[in-house]
Amino acid sequence: MASRFSSDVALTQGAENARLAAEGSDDDPVLLRVEDLRKEYRSGSQPLVLFDGLNLTVRQGEMIAIVGESGAGKSTLLHLLAALDRPSAGDVYCASTWLGKLTAGQAATFRNREIGYVWQLHYLLPEFTALENVAMPLLAREEPKPSAFAKAKELLCEVGLEARVDHLAGELSGGEQQRVSLARALVTQPRLLLADEPTGNLDNRTAEAVFGLLERLHATHRLTSILVTHNMEIAKRCGRTLRLHEGRLHEVWLRASGSEEGSPEASTASSETPGHPIVRTAIPGADRTGTA
Ligand SMILES: Nc1ncnc2c1ncn2[C@@H]1O[C@H](COP(=O)(O)OP(=O)(O)O)[C@@H](O)[C@H]1O
Ligand SMILES: [Mg+2]
Repeated sequence: MASRFSSDVALTQGAENARLAAEGSDDDPVLLRVEDLRKEYRSGSQPLVLFDGLNLTVRQGEMIAIVGESGAGKSTLLHLLAALDRPSAGDVYCASTWLGKLTAGQAATFRNREIGYVWQLHYLLPEFTALENVAMPLLAREEPKPSAFAKAKELLCEVGLEARVDHLAGELSGGEQQRVSLARALVTQPRLLLADEPTGNLDNRTAEAVFGLLERLHATHRLTSILVTHNMEIAKRCGRTLRLHEGRLHEVWLRASGSEEGSPEASTASSETPGHPIVRTAIPGADRTGTA
């Protein structure tokens, strides 16, 4: 399959489609619902309560950024959404799946079918090729090798790495490794993409390129995406930005429909579900750029 990034026209069109796709719509069905989530850790003398009464509703097609101080619980939240961890109380529903009722085996199947996960550290297997790394989730679900490798190759072409298919993952640059992990996350055709500081280890220029790719993939793969980032320029290109602070999500930025510019006080209709208020607040350093 040819690269999707062959001309400036295609890029401009892709960026516009990505912008429109990131907004979602009030009419779109809810894909993810988090209800009264509580998470506490009991490893020290005092229990550490990370969330208490955290609520979130995400509509299909939305692209959401989550920002917050280090230690606020952003990674823990993504783990709970992916059924990688269990809440102390409360519920997470993804489409028709109630995560609380899944056994460990069912949770693994749920992740393999529904979730694409991108980590700050790519966690590629360095001694395997890019192709083998991307095919891995399909081989794990016992898809025959020829079809798994064909799909993996198609995804690697989509992320612009057709010339690196047979390179060992350990020999690729940081930006290329993150492209491979995006391809690996999407090869199973998930509905929900969870990305935990996917550009956090990259220089500004590479981070911009990887995020641009993520935006385009969000649109072309009709994803619902939740992205943890410290980069406010990147966050502002998402449809909504939520700040995780003191165990709750506070809406700090919502792009008005059809507009490039968002507002901290833009329309509330798409962000609130009755009984699930999201507190609005200004974010300190919101005009700061960079990857912190
Ligand atoms: N398994 C664990 N046991 C105890 N404390 C943990 C565990 N995992 C994370 N924490 C603590 O929870 C807090 C939030 O962690 P994390 O979700 O990684 O934050 P963030 O991603 O926002 O930086 C941190 O203070 C961390 O030390
Ligand atoms: Mg984290």
